[in-house]
Amino acid sequence: MSREKTACVTGANGYLGSLLVKQLLDKGYVVHATVRDPGNQAKVSHLLNLPGSERLKIFRADLTIEGSFDDAVRGSDFVFHVATPVFIDSKEPENEMIKPAIQGTLDVLRTCAKTKTIKRVVLTSSSAAVTVHGEEEHDRVTSEECWADVEFLVSKKPRNWGYRVSKTLAEKEAWKFAAENQIDLISVVPVLTSGPSLTPDIPNRVILALSLLTGNDLALKARQLICGSIPLVHVDDVCRAHIFLAEKESASGRYICCAANTSVPELAEFLSNTYPQYIVPTDYGDFPSKPKYPVSAEKLIKEGFTFKFGIEEIFDESVEYFKAKGLLPK
Ligand SMILES: NC(=O)c1ccc[n+]([C@@H]2O[C@H](COP(=O)([O-])OP(=O)(O)OC[C@H]3O[C@@H](n4cnc5c(N)ncnc54)[C@H](OP(=O)(O)O)[C@@H]3O)[C@@H](O)[C@H]2O)c1
Repeated sequence: MSREKTACVTGANGYLGSLLVKQLLDKGYVVHATVRDPGNQAKVSHLLNLPGSERLKIFRADLTIEGSFDDAVRGSDFVFHVATPVFIDSKEPENEMIKPAIQGTLDVLRTCAKTKTIKRVVLTSSSAAVTVHGEEEHDRVTSEECWADVEFLVSKKPRNWGYRVSKTLAEKEAWKFAAENQIDLISVVPVLTSGPSLTPDIPNRVILALSLLTGNDLALKARQLICGSIPLVHVDDVCRAHIFLAEKESASGRYICCAANTSVPELAEFLSNTYPQYIVPTDYGDFPSKPKYPVSAEKLIKEGFTFKFGIEEIFDESVEYFKAKGLLPK
């Protein structure tokens, strides 16, 4: 880079956010990282200890406080809007997730619209915004044209419906605002993400990805029944895709980030064969054994992105991480 570029990362202390900050620092960026509570050491020390942290500045910002991202966005070339409220099994999804995700995303974009240095905004969406197929029967590939069926989610209330609605509506509102205000917006649509985390806490999505190894298949089975498949990606690839898409001038629109599609029975078979030291039940009776509606990252690959991690590497690294954290026996 001819001069140091500045990137603002919202939700910088989270699972994806903290690795994204690390990769940006490794690439020589100045990073403006937003967190809700900069005084809480448990929430920021993993950022402050990163190599290159002399180019890191921490800002306080909250999706529910209007204008609170102004200071962090000021002077940035890129904004990576990663933050979102995540409350699994929330009893009040409207207030805890849906409203803050939409209002916070619009607030970040309003700040970007009035900040002249911003070249591009990269929004972290989710496969939750593309993969719920309601009661459709026909087979198809899940691509960037797909949107989760909000009416189905609100009426049937499947597990974690509030998060899915929050991600879908926040992304839709972002596209509308960006078009009306000439913002160069890209959305990254990661699927279920696994791999080691820099955070002190173990991310609940990694716990989900490894749940067949830790002896609880209920949530993964529920996911497959709603969405048709279990799509997976490594967190390192997700964060690299964010930076790749920010820097790639020709990029536009949504980009699904998915390295592999599987099903619960297929995954159980793979894990049982690969890690015979753990007991992974493989008899799933008539539970669907083939992934339906596979999620496709063809657009991202055509843009020139290369995934470094396939399903073997995703699980090898995640298993080592769980062993180190004491969640799997060594
Ligand atoms: N992990 C996955 O499998 C996956 C897959 C697809 C998409 N994504 C997306 O990736 C993004 C990051 O997810 P993650 O897995 O890294 O989750 P995470 O670790 O829970 O990170 C969420 C981040 O958002 C922040 N946040 C929550 N509520 C906020 C608020 N009101 N104001 C400001 N910040 C707030 C959190 O801050 P606190 O620490 O203060 O709570 C945290 O930094 C999200 O947009 C998520 O939808 C994740």
